[in-house]
Amino acid sequence: MKAEACTYVIYGATGNLSRIKLMPALYHLDVENLLPEGSKILAIGRRDWDQQHWQAEVRAMIEFKARNGVDEAVFKRFCERLHFLKGDIKQAESYTLLAKTLNDQTKFPQNKAFYLAISPSDFGDTVEFLHNAELLNEENGWSRVVIEKPFGYDLPSAQSLQRRIGKYLREDQIYRIDHYLGKGTVQNLLVFRFANTMLEPLWNRNYIDHIQITHSEELGIGSRAQYYDTSGAMRDMLQSHLIQLLTLVTMEPPASMEAEALRDEKVKVLKSIRPIPKEAVNAHAFRAQYVSGNINGEKVKGYLQEENVPENSVTETFAAIKLYVDNWRWKDVPIYLRTGKRMAKGQSSISICFKQPPLQFFRDTQIKCTSPNWLLIGIQPEECLRMEMTVKVPGLEMNTRLTSLDAGFRHEDEHHIDAYEDLLLDVIEGDRSLFLRSDEVEHAWRIVDPILQKWSEERDYIAGYPAGSNGPEECRRIFDKESHHWRQSLTPECD
Ligand code: BG6
Repeated sequence: MKAEACTYVIYGATGNLSRIKLMPALYHLDVENLLPEGSKILAIGRRDWDQQHWQAEVRAMIEFKARNGVDEAVFKRFCERLHFLKGDIKQAESYTLLAKTLNDQTKFPQNKAFYLAISPSDFGDTVEFLHNAELLNEENGWSRVVIEKPFGYDLPSAQSLQRRIGKYLREDQIYRIDHYLGKGTVQNLLVFRFANTMLEPLWNRNYIDHIQITHSEELGIGSRAQYYDTSGAMRDMLQSHLIQLLTLVTMEPPASMEAEALRDEKVKVLKSIRPIPKEAVNAHAFRAQYVSGNINGEKVKGYLQEENVPENSVTETFAAIKLYVDNWRWKDVPIYLRTGKRMAKGQSSISICFKQPPLQFFRDTQIKCTSPNWLLIGIQPEECLRMEMTVKVPGLEMNTRLTSLDAGFRHEDEHHIDAYEDLLLDVIEGDRSLFLRSDEVEHAWRIVDPILQKWSEERDYIAGYPAGSNGPEECRRIFDKESHHWRQSLTPECD
C-alpha cells in the first residue's frame, strides 16, 4: 500500500513512550524508506525548546535504540521532518496555535495523525479541543487519532469516553492501540493457524485439553506508581494484551484479512466468553502482590516499599483468570491467563496442552513419561513455535523421551522490528486491522468488570508472592483439574 505524506502530531512527545518507542520507531521507518516523502513529525510539549534542542533530544532517544547505530544521512533527513511546538494540552489557545501552524501547507502535509501519548484522563478533552480547532475535519486531507491504552477504566467509563469522542470522530478515524497486535510473533499466530492445513482439525475441544497465556516480567513498577496503583495487573495487561492474544488463538478463520472481517471474528469470541458472576470470582480469578525477594541474585523491594505506593495498597501486581469460550469449537476448554511483575523471568508465551492419547498404550512397559503434547508459542524474548512430541530413546529397551519440532520465527540475518513501527505505519496507510474497534474494547471490559468490582470491595487482604518467584502457589485453585499446572518453560519439561 503506498501511503501519502502526512504530519504526525505527537502529544506527550517528551514522555516515556515517545522516548523509548515512538521516536525510535519513526526513525527506523525512515531508515527503511517507509515514511512517505515530505512527511513531518510535529511534537507538542510544554517545555520552552527550540528546534535545535528538540533535535538533540530526539538524537539521544534514537542513539539509545537505533538497531545499527545512528545512520547520519538518514538522521539528517529525519531532522528535517522534526518540529517542536510549545503547547499545553489543557489550554484551548495551544490548539488554535497548532491549527495555525498546520495550515501552512508549504511546511506541513494536510493529512494528519494525532498520537495521544498522554494521560488517559485527558483523551476526551484533547479530542474535543482538536475538534473545536477544526483539526479533525477532513476537508484538505485525512485526520486520524491514535489513542493509547487504557481505553476507559471499566465498562461505563469506556462507554462514556466512546460517546464523547464519537461526537467528533467517525469510527474509521479512531486508532485504539494495543501494541501486542503489532508484534511480529503475535501476527505469526494468525499465519500459523490459517496458512497451515494440518492444524485446523486439531484446533478444538476434541484435541485440546487447555490453553495458557502468560506474560511475566522481572521488572517491578519502577517509577510508574501513580498510574499503576490505580490500574493493577488486570487492567494494565490482562484486559487488553492477554485478552487480545486469547481472541487470536480461539477465533474462527475470518472471511478475509480486511480489518472489519478480522475484528468481527474477534468480537464473536469475546461475546462467547462465559460471564463470571461476582459470586464465582474466587473460583475463576486470583490476585497477588509482590513482596521483597531476589531477582538475578539482587535483593529487590516489595510493591508496598516502591516509591509513591500507598502503604495499605491492595493493588494486584499479579493476576490470573480462567475463562471459557462457550462456542462449538471451545466449549469447556479452560483458558488460563496470567500476568505478573517481578516474576522469576520475563516471558510472554502461549502454551497449548493437547489431550492424552485415548489409551495409555505403553502402560505395561517401563515407559514413565506420559507427558501430553504441548504446542509452545514464544512471543518474547524467546520467539518460537515448538511442538513437543514423545519419541523412543535409541537402544534395545523401550524408553521414551520428549523432543520438539521447532519452527523458528526469525533467521539469523533477520532483525527484530518493534511493534510500534508496524502500527505507526498502519496509521499512515489507513489499515485498522491491528487496532481495536470500540465493541472489542467494551466486550473485554465486560469480561473483567465483575472481577474488578469484587476485588475493589475486598480491600483488607491481598496474597503476596516473593519477587523473583513464579507467582503465588495458591493460584492453583483456579485450575479445573489436579493435573493442570503452570507451564513455566518453553523447553521440554517431563513431569
Ligand atoms: C504495557 C504495560 O502496556 O505493556 C506495561 O502498561 C507492560 O506495564 C508492557 O510492562 C509490556 O509490554 P512489552 O511489549 O514489554 O511486553
